Amino acid sequence: MAPEKNWKGKICCIGAGYVGGPTCSVIAIKCPDYKVSIVDVNPHRIAAWNSDDLPIYEPGLDDVVKACRNRNLFFTTDVDGAIVESDIIFVSVNTPTKKHGLGSGMAADLTYIESACRRIAQVATSSKIVVEKSTVPCRTAESMRAILEANSRNGIRFDILSNPEFLAEGTAITDLFGPDRVLIGSLQTPEGLAAQKALADVYAHWVPRDRIITMNLWSSELSKLAANALLAQRISSINSLSALCEATGADVDEVAFAVGKDSRIGPKFLKASVAFGGSCFQKDILNLVYLCESLHLKEVAEYWRQVVVINEYQKQRFVRRIVHALFDTVTSKKICLLGFAFKKNTGDTRESAAIGLAKYFMDEDANVHIYDPKVTDEQILMDLSEPGISSGIEEVKKKITIFKDAYSAAEDADALVICTEWDEFKALDYQTIYQAMKKPAFIFDGRLLLDASELRKIGFKVETIGKPSPATRGY
Ligand code: UDX
Ligand code: ADP
Repeated sequence: MAPEKNWKGKICCIGAGYVGGPTCSVIAIKCPDYKVSIVDVNPHRIAAWNSDDLPIYEPGLDDVVKACRNRNLFFTTDVDGAIVESDIIFVSVNTPTKKHGLGSGMAADLTYIESACRRIAQVATSSKIVVEKSTVPCRTAESMRAILEANSRNGIRFDILSNPEFLAEGTAITDLFGPDRVLIGSLQTPEGLAAQKALADVYAHWVPRDRIITMNLWSSELSKLAANALLAQRISSINSLSALCEATGADVDEVAFAVGKDSRIGPKFLKASVAFGGSCFQKDILNLVYLCESLHLKEVAEYWRQVVVINEYQKQRFVRRIVHALFDTVTSKKICLLGFAFKKNTGDTRESAAIGLAKYFMDEDANVHIYDPKVTDEQILMDLSEPGISSGIEEVKKKITIFKDAYSAAEDADALVICTEWDEFKALDYQTIYQAMKKPAFIFDGRLLLDASELRKIGFKVETIGKPSPATRGY
């Protein structure tokens, strides 16, 4: 039980996922004078947050949680209790892309946001600041307010704030400890501005005031979509150039280095790859496209859609190059995917490029070996059993084998495919791996991670994204 002390304020976070869990754990450690309750409808997730084996892998997260859990940080399924006692409520529930109905495949599914708001309105007995933390389409705050006001008891106020989260998975804790900026949007009314200040005071425990930016609600909501769209656009830009590099003999790492030296361009987010993944980029761009289309901004919609088109193209291009190098067939061959997470230092697989690659190899009746240091077997099987990826778990079990280390995954394989840039893949003993593979032994580096010339000395045939190879030029 929480020691009953004089808390300066009480915070509730609805949704104990990749965003809510780390964000509010960091708020708890930085604000010992606040009581922070992270709630979720999923009892397994909450049990895991209360155990030694947290439900998400994030470097540094264990230490933060251990330092304040059951002191001023509580994980519970008692959603109603936490709503009632809190002054500030973060809504950090999932907002996946709609799978059917209007806007299917593009618009965000706001079912979870709506049900969280209905619950808040139903049980709240005092006024609340409700903070939109999940990435949402523009003007969602307005819908939240409409739901809250239509369902609230007399005399209770709800002030809605937009406070988008910019953390990236794998570096969430460092991002949260030292954010480039904290963005708080509110209505420009006296009450809205007071709510904005109350939230700014929480962040001011560790974030310098000049990094806490305030603005109107709609600008704040759109800024989040815009930031993700611009970041994803940079990756699609460098990936489109990687195709040109392969065809011309240029090296994409050298090109990225050269252009990144221009201080107006900068060096970050210019690493070519097999494709960007993660729960945000594609979803947010499709949201943006949908928004533009609904506002009849056809050219703007088309412009942003190309970022996703190039991302898909990049995956297909890589697969074509692999198949061509493997003598135009992968049927019955053993293809070893190293990495299944969408980036290193996370166990998250949402929109991971590895899923698309595995699908293609399953379609071609290859035997796919998979190893990832953090993704669980259950997660891999679940992702690959999804409709549109395979015919179901039977097919997956027939064609996929999951391994506990890279060496056994690579044994007897025709090819290694680097899907995720895990550090441990750089340190493998490739001489040993080479000996255990079929010959010719191929490595396809989708992350520009390995030293191709060293691998070629061992005897490998190496194909790297954005780097030309005489065997596959033009693929
Ligand atoms: C992103 C945003 O960075 C973050 O601000 C926002 O809050 C959520 O979405 P995230 O998806 O967790 O964060 O990771 P990010 O580091 O942005 O990487 C996204 C994808 O792009 C990964 O698949 C990554 O491997 C890929 N990527 C990133 C590249 O291919 N090249 C790069 O140069 C950078
Ligand atoms: P994100 O990456 O945005 O954090 P996640 O899917 O990791 O998304 O986490 C969202 C969490 O929100 C899930 O654990 C889900 O169970 C929880 N959730 C969804 N709707 C509600 C709700 N109405 N009340 C409490 N928790 C909810």
